[in-house]
Amino acid sequence: MGKPEVIINVASSLDGIIGSEEGALSLSTEEDWIRVHELRNSVDAILIGINTVISDDPLLNVRYTETKSPHPFRVVLDSKCRIHLDSKIIQDQHRFPTIIFVSHKSSEEKRSKLQRLGVKVELIEERDERNFLDMRTVLKVLNTKYFVNRVLVEGGSTIITQLLKNQLVDVLHIFYRFVFVGNKGGKNLYDDLLVQDVPNALMFEAVEITKLDEGILVTLTPIKNIDDK
Ligand SMILES: NC(=O)c1ccc[n+]([C@@H]2O[C@H](COP(=O)([O-])OP(=O)(O)OC[C@H]3O[C@@H](n4cnc5c(N)ncnc54)[C@H](OP(=O)(O)O)[C@@H]3O)[C@@H](O)[C@H]2O)c1
Repeated sequence: MGKPEVIINVASSLDGIIGSEEGALSLSTEEDWIRVHELRNSVDAILIGINTVISDDPLLNVRYTETKSPHPFRVVLDSKCRIHLDSKIIQDQHRFPTIIFVSHKSSEEKRSKLQRLGVKVELIEERDERNFLDMRTVLKVLNTKYFVNRVLVEGGSTIITQLLKNQLVDVLHIFYRFVFVGNKGGKNLYDDLLVQDVPNALMFEAVEITKLDEGILVTLTPIKNIDDK
């Protein structure tokens, strides 16, 4: 199929919240943040959803470590091309290239503006069961056209959920900060329906559990496919 290895990295509270109503929560500690940048430096692309770009305006580049060359692609899934042209991720295309996946729902004028700024725009039509851009197609394009063999996915919860549900995740790193933040208006790590009982849940095994400053890092791999139920 031409699928890159998919690694998810996310920071969560103990109650499974990764973002607030207003956007970013400062859940990573400095030690965790340095680890994330080393992880970014080990992949060919770093992928996020458009809501994370709009709410957090991340740079999504490699810092705190000697950056490999070429810099990993920054990838955004944005079917309607809602991205703001002044987003940080649109800046510095010559140093940190960005690929935006859109559908025909997006405005041609906006796509052209992005291309003039040096952004690579990929138009795909395939949709998934929730009418989002089809993740398998996105991964295939990244692998076959941009030679991406390892992609790091940094959120948000909608992107993570779609990857987990479609069994496309190879490795999942969750940094649990030892805090409770409450779930009113919060973004859950996994935003799908509650299962009736644990045997029906997506299951993982822990490959490594590491105590970090003010939290733990849990590294997991899937052990059960939805089809196995
Ligand atoms: N703690 C952490 O580590 C962390 C990391 C990242 C983000 N966050 C938080 O997560 C929150 C944002 O998460 P979110 O769930 O609202 O949004 P998101 O996952 O960032 O973006 C979701 C959007 O991406 C687009 N999309 C296109 N193709 C998709 C696909 N195949 N699957 C899923 N989405 C697809 C859709 O918008 P269109 O329909 O318009 O294309 C969708 O609504 C923010 O609060 C942010 O702070 C936390």
